[in-house]
Amino acid sequence: MAGASFSQSMFTDLCERMLRLCKLQHGESLVLLSQGQERVEYVDAFMTAGQRLGAKVMNLRLPYSSSATSGEVGVWTVGKTPLSGNQPAVDMLKGADMVVETLFMLFSDELTEIQQAGTRILTCIEPVDLLARLFPTEELKQRTDAAVEALSAASTLRFTNPAGTNVTYRIGYPVKAQYGYVDQPGQWDHWPSGGMVLTCGADDGIDGRVVVDKGDILLPFKQYVHEPIELTIEAGRITSIEGSGYQADLVKQYLADFGDPDAYGLSHIGWGLDERAKWAALGTDDRGHGMELRAFYGNVLFSTGPNDLVGGPNHTSCHLDIPMRNCSLWLDDRPIIVDGAVVVDAMRPQGAPLAV
Ligand SMILES: [Fe+2]
Repeated sequence: MAGASFSQSMFTDLCERMLRLCKLQHGESLVLLSQGQERVEYVDAFMTAGQRLGAKVMNLRLPYSSSATSGEVGVWTVGKTPLSGNQPAVDMLKGADMVVETLFMLFSDELTEIQQAGTRILTCIEPVDLLARLFPTEELKQRTDAAVEALSAASTLRFTNPAGTNVTYRIGYPVKAQYGYVDQPGQWDHWPSGGMVLTCGADDGIDGRVVVDKGDILLPFKQYVHEPIELTIEAGRITSIEGSGYQADLVKQYLADFGDPDAYGLSHIGWGLDERAKWAALGTDDRGHGMELRAFYGNVLFSTGPNDLVGGPNHTSCHLDIPMRNCSLWLDDRPIIVDGAVVVDAMRPQGAPLAV
């Protein structure tokens, strides 16, 4: 069974819809990458779906080597997968037209190498009911494209919130988008991603203060913040972490435990555009990797750690994603989000209220 409320045949139909969105063609090769006994039903569903479309399908199954990627407990470290050091496996994936991976390869060197060979790669690790509920749409992709255009034209990104955040990123890297499917050679995406645009600041080009407010979300901890956590950022590094609540200590200790100066770097910055994704979802459902929480409409997704996903030098395994509410965000002097509401028509769903 693929999930409590989904039969395997319904899941297979969903995977077929996904492969059609990814423009998988008759005769193309599709490799399903898995480890151990994990997500066998995902592999089976995609294998059947791929066969229906006339693709050449296979499953590359690696020994189970990581407890970091279980969908039930979240991702604890990034960039280390069972592919590390297994060049024949990497070469096989580089020879495929498309890969669906169930390991969580983001931030790994192998992901970059496989993309550079022209293979398109889709990550699929979330619970099946979430894959269905946040199924990607071309309409959301169009709104994401509008966000990419705006971010690509900007040289600075600044955001604030009522708790005292005021931080400026001098944009230093290419802009990336995630909308949940891959239809271009060399593309990577994560199903679901909910319409997300992101980039990274220049290595020494981020300064200010980020005050993570009550109700913002700490990932991978899967916790709503109870008391504000204040991060001081100087020249692209976190230089202090303060706060009266225990979660400030938790963040401080979590970063310190990596024993890695690069844990104090800053990772991607951007915002989410999916009005179907709910900020409150974590209140009743802590399964999965938390993509719904990263995607909700109007959140500013602030993150710490590696920037190698955009070509930067920081490869740390320590990565926090922190979706923040009620922020205002400017690209140069142009307002994009005001008090948590997206104010650019091309990024808003038709008929959306200004505040969600
Ligand atoms: Fe992230």
